[in-house]
Amino acid sequence: MSQVHSDALVFFGATGDLAYKKIFPSLQAMIVRGKLDVPVIGVAKAGWNLDQLKARAKDSLEEHGGVNPDAFAKLCALLRYVDGDYGDSETFAELKRQLGSSVHPAHYLAIPPSMFETVAEGLAKAGCSTGARVIVEKPFGHDLASAQQLNLVLHRYFDENSIFRIDHYLEKRPVRNMLFFRFSNPLLESFWNRDFVESVQITMAEDFGIQGRGAFYDATGTIRDVIQNHIFQVLCNVAMEPMTRTDSESVRNEKVKVLESVPSLRPEDVIRGQFDGYQHEPGVAHNSTTETFAAVRLFVNTFRWSGVPFYIRAGKNLPVTALEILIRLRKAPHIFTVAADYNYVRLRLSPDVQFAMGVTALSEHDDAARPMEMMVSRRPTAEEEDAYERVLGDAMIGDQTMFAREDYVEEAWRIVDPILGDATAVNAYKPGTWGPEAEQSLAPPGGWNDPVVTSSEA
Ligand code: BG6
Repeated sequence: MSQVHSDALVFFGATGDLAYKKIFPSLQAMIVRGKLDVPVIGVAKAGWNLDQLKARAKDSLEEHGGVNPDAFAKLCALLRYVDGDYGDSETFAELKRQLGSSVHPAHYLAIPPSMFETVAEGLAKAGCSTGARVIVEKPFGHDLASAQQLNLVLHRYFDENSIFRIDHYLEKRPVRNMLFFRFSNPLLESFWNRDFVESVQITMAEDFGIQGRGAFYDATGTIRDVIQNHIFQVLCNVAMEPMTRTDSESVRNEKVKVLESVPSLRPEDVIRGQFDGYQHEPGVAHNSTTETFAAVRLFVNTFRWSGVPFYIRAGKNLPVTALEILIRLRKAPHIFTVAADYNYVRLRLSPDVQFAMGVTALSEHDDAARPMEMMVSRRPTAEEEDAYERVLGDAMIGDQTMFAREDYVEEAWRIVDPILGDATAVNAYKPGTWGPEAEQSLAPPGGWNDPVVTSSEA
């Protein structure tokens, strides 16, 4: 089964936001690249017909990247639509009819997790789960117990090697490339350990707010929205040991080992923040204590990293949008009387890709020590595959490397479980700043690295 190409793509939530913003543009792009040539069946309960779904697809493309007339015509030819309630067996009977001779469909659940069980059961009862794959959106559960329950439910109908838990960050090209970069350059390996590294920082900053997603966000918060998944994946790429083979399980085994070695977080390891004005956003409770910012300190207790603190920061309405990793090396012994700064490696993954090394050198003019940075950068091009395009493409060929495995997801929840909800106070911060002042109490030696994005890089 793992080598078989899916012979139909079914997407639940076809009239929803995710389909509009991400799925239709990805489908068109896959067609342009010659990677999609099977029936695509949208399912939703909207009282629509196929023509309305095609019109929706066109609107989506017009707003997100443009319509390619040939590819759109082909998409329309592949598109089918099933309208019905997910709790109604007739919906699934109709889906089965639409699937026709397909025996290996991929079912993409672009729907709220609360509906997963109903849909999985509906698929199974209608005979649509045998030989099929299921692709599920994040967040996978909202804590450890609910993730375990969700795994239990999905495993009733699908084997683990047929379950594809999305974390679209994994399919971002610069995130994927981190492993190649790390393990192809022995230069890095020589200092990538506790002997040389003093601390590691990962900052995921966004200069926008919650973009009308109040109800979702208020029930979620930053820790569940991006730290437990996206940032932990980046953390694993920084901290994991080289895999011995490049197949999906070898890669995923190494990532799980990283999470297994991270002790569960304690309240003193986190500072939560909420931007001023958040409680007036539509869908947000007036007395909400949900965080829109979090700073976290954790340890990766492996032979390589024991004793090295990892600092994570993520938030909405911060000064810039950027994803950056700073690896700060221990200071040199004081042979010279002039103060030397830290050496560091800075990896930026977005908006552009940068690799920088921070060094100290003597100024030619006054013999003072000066920090300098050597940097190479690359801007992503418009032709690069979007993360969602890769998500769908990889799931359809059964490659699980870039999807979260059951044990990985549960370990990630185990780490953050004790700091979820109101385990700690939430501190106000002004939009456009680097979070609440309390964040300083968790600052790494040498201070936080605030990514700087110039207008040419954004
Ligand atoms: C999503 C989160 O998973 O990832 C959003 O729900 C966040 O809150 C987004 O903004 C970031 O991903 P990207 O691809 O837009 O950088």
